[in-house]
Amino acid sequence: MTAAPQIPLRLVESLRKVDRVAVLTGAGTSAESGIPTFRQAQTGLWSQFSPEELATPMAFAENPKRVWEWYAWRRELVTKARPNPGHLALAQLARRFPQFTLITQNVDGLHQQAGSQEVLELHGNILRTKCSREGRVVEKWTDTPAVPPPCPHCGAHLRPDVVWFHEALPQETLDRAMAAAASCQVFFSIGTSTVVSPAADLPFIAIRNGAVIVEINPEPTPLTESADYVLAGPSGMVLPELLTCLA
Ligand code: OAD
Repeated sequence: MTAAPQIPLRLVESLRKVDRVAVLTGAGTSAESGIPTFRQAQTGLWSQFSPEELATPMAFAENPKRVWEWYAWRRELVTKARPNPGHLALAQLARRFPQFTLITQNVDGLHQQAGSQEVLELHGNILRTKCSREGRVVEKWTDTPAVPPPCPHCGAHLRPDVVWFHEALPQETLDRAMAAAASCQVFFSIGTSTVVSPAADLPFIAIRNGAVIVEINPEPTPLTESADYVLAGPSGMVLPELLTCLA
């Protein structure tokens, strides 16, 4: 079993003094809930599936059934998953700071399930469905053998409300995430390989604005060398430990 790294006292002391904290989470945060990450060798989704065939508007135009079914499979995994101690600790941590912005690349809604109040979802939410033509969120549609099912308003294919490669992120959410990164005193980057922009730019925006950077990840990433603190362990162990140290 992986041991949680020691939380440096200096970090705990700085956290006791700050008001503004921003957190960016990625797939690793949900790994301990049984949801596969994307880029890990062997187990990552992108080691078994091709993003070009499943997560682009072109893939959906070419084979909407394949894309819909792959997301239906992932939606089922997400529906069965429960928040892990890392998600729960983040929801608690939020209460300790006057300003706490939780930004996620995850589409699984587990932060909200764990009790986090306001979550900036940069890549959408797999549990939501929208019309592929008009973009409006659709809550209900009639049972039909058609895959994907048609939009009840205009008949176009329905699709998951997630951001695919080559698509823009929701602008207001991204603006708020960038503002939080630029103004925070401490920035946590947790469970992300830090390679997909613009999310991957956020810790570097925080660095340029003088924030203390804390990375929580068992593996090194392009951010590791620039981080002030690297807690190289699973977030489901490190975050509860951090919360205990702050108590
Ligand atoms: P990745 O799969 O690229 O990276 C997951 C990271 O989590 C890796 O750096 C792992 O080392 C780390 N990790 C694994 N288990 C962990 C644990 N228990 N605790 C902490 N860290 C752990 O996932 P993301 O960085 O989230 O986008 O990927 C970014 C985006 O690329 C995703 O949102 C998705 C994907 O393509 C879209 O689908 C648009």
